[in-house]
Amino acid sequence: MPSMVQNGPRNNPQAQKPHSNFPNKPRNPNSMARRERIKRQRESLPIASVKELLVEEVKTHDILIIVGETGSGKTTQLPQFLFNAGFCCDGKVIGITQPRRVAAVSVAKRVAEECEVELGQKVGYSIRFDDKTSSFTRIKYMTDGLLLREALLDPYLSRYSVIIVDEAHERTVHTDVLLGLLKNVHNVRSNFIKDHDNMDDKKSNNRTMKGKGTGTQCTSFLKHCHGRKFPPLKLIIMSASLDARVFSDYFGCARAIHIEGRQHHVDILYAFHPEPDYLDATLVTIFQIHLEETPGDILVFLTGQEEIESVERLVQEQLHKLPEANRKLLTVPIFSSLPSEQQMRVFMPASPGHRKVILATNIAETSLTIPGIKYVIDPGFVKARSYDPVKGMESLIIVPTSKAQALQRSGRAGREGPGKCFRLYPECEFEKLEDSTKPEIKRCNLSNVILQLKALGVDDIIGFDFMEKPPRAAIIKSLEHLFLLGALTDDCKLSEPIGHQMARLPLDPIYSKALILASQFNCLEEMLITVAMLSVESIFYAPREKKDEARTAMKCFASPDGDHLTLVNVYRAVDRLLEKRKMEVVNEKNLHGKNEKFLRNWCKENFINGRSLRHACDIHSQIRGHVEQMGLCISSCGDDHLQFRRCLAASFFFNAALKQPEGTYRALASGQVVQIHPSSVLFQSKAECIIFNELVQTTNKYIRNLTRIDYLWLTELAPHYYAMQS
Ligand code: CDP
Ligand code: MG
Repeated sequence: MPSMVQNGPRNNPQAQKPHSNFPNKPRNPNSMARRERIKRQRESLPIASVKELLVEEVKTHDILIIVGETGSGKTTQLPQFLFNAGFCCDGKVIGITQPRRVAAVSVAKRVAEECEVELGQKVGYSIRFDDKTSSFTRIKYMTDGLLLREALLDPYLSRYSVIIVDEAHERTVHTDVLLGLLKNVHNVRSNFIKDHDNMDDKKSNNRTMKGKGTGTQCTSFLKHCHGRKFPPLKLIIMSASLDARVFSDYFGCARAIHIEGRQHHVDILYAFHPEPDYLDATLVTIFQIHLEETPGDILVFLTGQEEIESVERLVQEQLHKLPEANRKLLTVPIFSSLPSEQQMRVFMPASPGHRKVILATNIAETSLTIPGIKYVIDPGFVKARSYDPVKGMESLIIVPTSKAQALQRSGRAGREGPGKCFRLYPECEFEKLEDSTKPEIKRCNLSNVILQLKALGVDDIIGFDFMEKPPRAAIIKSLEHLFLLGALTDDCKLSEPIGHQMARLPLDPIYSKALILASQFNCLEEMLITVAMLSVESIFYAPREKKDEARTAMKCFASPDGDHLTLVNVYRAVDRLLEKRKMEVVNEKNLHGKNEKFLRNWCKENFINGRSLRHACDIHSQIRGHVEQMGLCISSCGDDHLQFRRCLAASFFFNAALKQPEGTYRALASGQVVQIHPSSVLFQSKAECIIFNELVQTTNKYIRNLTRIDYLWLTELAPHYYAMQS
C-alpha cells in the first residue's frame, strides 16, 4: 500500500531529531562530533581560502558581483565573514535574499547551526507566511519577494548595512524588480551620506539626492531620513553562472570577482531515443542505478510537487516487489511548498547501507547543495510561467530546460568525486536547447509587480530602470488588469482604499481583491479558506492505479457547484474532525503528536494530500491575521452558496468560460478553447458558464478550480468589463 508520509523517523532515525547543540545545553558526544565535522567542512570550502580577500573587496566596493560555482560556500559563509568583520555594528542587519523559500529556510538553519545559535536569534529567516527572526537577528535570510514587501514599510531599507542578492542568475521576476529597487536605494543612501558630510543644511538640497528615475522614492526617503544618519548600503550580487557582465553593466561597471570551485569529472549518458513518458523512464533509471551502480546518492530533477509525489509512490511500490536485500533505497522529496521541518531531511545522510534518492524540483540546481550526490537523473524539463499579453492569460507550462540548466544539473554529480548524469533525451536534443533561460519578467503577468512598485511610489512603470525591460504590451495589459480590478485610478495611481488594501496583502492581486469583495458579500470566511487552499499545489491526489478509489473519496466532499466549495468542504471537515477529537480526548498525553498521526491517517484514507493541507492551514491563519488587521468584516454566508458563487464571479470575472455546442469551453476574455481538467468536480458536468482559477497547458489547454455561475451575473457584477465587451 503506498504511503503518503514516507520515510518518517522509522526509516531514518535522525530525521526528526532537533539539533541540541545550542551553547546553553549540555553537549553530547554526537553533537560534538557533528560540530567537528561541520568545522572541517567549512574550512575545506573553496571560499574559506579567500575569506580575507573577500572581506577587503566588500570594504572597498559598495557594489560587488560575486560569481562562484555552486557549493563553493557563498551563501552560507559570506554573511558570517561579514558579520565577523563588523558589518553588523550598531545593530544593523545583513540581509540575504533567495528566489526560493526552501533555500532561505534550509540555509538559515544550517548557518544557525554553524554559528551554534538558536534559529531566530543571531541567524534567522523570513519568508511569506513564516517568520523566524527577532530583534537580535543580524544575519537574515529571506525571499526576494519578502524584501520587496519590507521596502513598502521602510523604503530605504535602513535596517540593513549589507544586502546580498543571491542566485541572481535565476532572474526571477522578484529578483529583477529588487535589483532595480536596490539600485535606487543604493544611490539614495550613498548620496545622502555625501550630502550629509558636505552640507550642513540638508533641507535646501533635495535635488542632489535624486538617483536615476528615483524622484518619488527620494522624496519619501527624505521625509523619513531627515535628521538621521545611515551608512551607505553595501550591495552584493551573487550568481552561479558565469555571465557576470550583465550584472556588472547594470550597476555601472561594478566590480565582479570569481571564486574558483571544485568540480570532478561527470560522465554524461544520453537516451538512445526520445522517451515517450519521462516519468516511466525516470523510474527505470532510478532502479537501474540502485541495482547496478556503486554506492552514492541519486538526485532526480522533476517539474513539481505532483510529479515528485507520484514518482515517490511508484518507487515505494517497486521496492516492495524487490527482495529484502535490495530494498535499501530511501526517497526524499524536496520542493518549495514542503513544510520546513521536512525540508531538512535532504541533508541527512541515509542509514548505513542505504542509498538516498532525492526527488527535487529545479531548486536543487543551484539554490541547495546537497552532499553525497553521485548520480543525477535529468529528464530535461522544467515547469515555467508563460504569459500571453494579447490574451492576458498566464499559464504554467512544462518546457525543456536550457543548456545552462542542463549543465548545472549534471554538475551536481561531481561535487565530491567523479559522478554520472543520465539525461533522459538523445544527445541531438541537447544541441537544440536554448543557451540560457529567458528572464521570468519577460514571460509573466506583471500585475503583482506593478502593484508593488506603485505602492513604493514608482509611478512610471515603463520608465523604471529594469535590468531588462519587460515587453511593453505586458506592462500595458497588466495595468489594464489592475485598473479593471479597481486597484488603479483613472490617472494610474493606486486607488484608495482598494488599491492600497490590495498592495498590503501578500497575495496575487486577483486573490486580494476576492478577499476584499468577500467582506462585502458576507462570505469572507469561505473566501479565506478558498484562497488558502488555492495557494498550495493540489489538495487531492489520485495515484494512477487508484484513480477510481480516489474519485469515490472525493465525492464525499464534492459540491455540485464546483471545486471552490469542494475545497471549503474539505477544510471544514478537517476542522470538525479535530474539534470532535479535542472533546473526546481531553486528557491524553502528547495530544499534538497523536492528532498529527490521526490527521495523517484520515488524509490517507480520503486521498487528501496532507502536506498541502497543512500548508494551506498555515496560510489561512496568516491571511486571516492580515484581513483582521485591515478591519475587514469576517463572516460566513452559511448555506447561502449562491452568495459565495456570486462573489467568485465578481472576483474572477476575467476567467469566465462558456460551454460550446461540442462540449469544450471558450474563455470569454481570450477566446481560447479550453477543456475542464479531469481532476475537477465539474468534469463531465453540463455547466453552461464557469469561472476558473488556473490554466494548465499540456497537449491540451486545461482549466482547473472551477465554479458554476450564471452568465448574466457577469454583466451585473463586472459591468465595466462585460458591458464594454458587448
Ligand atoms: O552558495 P554556494 O552554492 O556557493 O554554497 P553553500 O550553499 O554556501 O554551501 C556550502 C556547503 O554547505 C556545501 O558543501 C553544502 O553541502 C553545505 N550545506 C549543508 O550541508 N546544509 C545546508 N543546509 C546548506 C549547505
Ligand atoms: Mg548558494
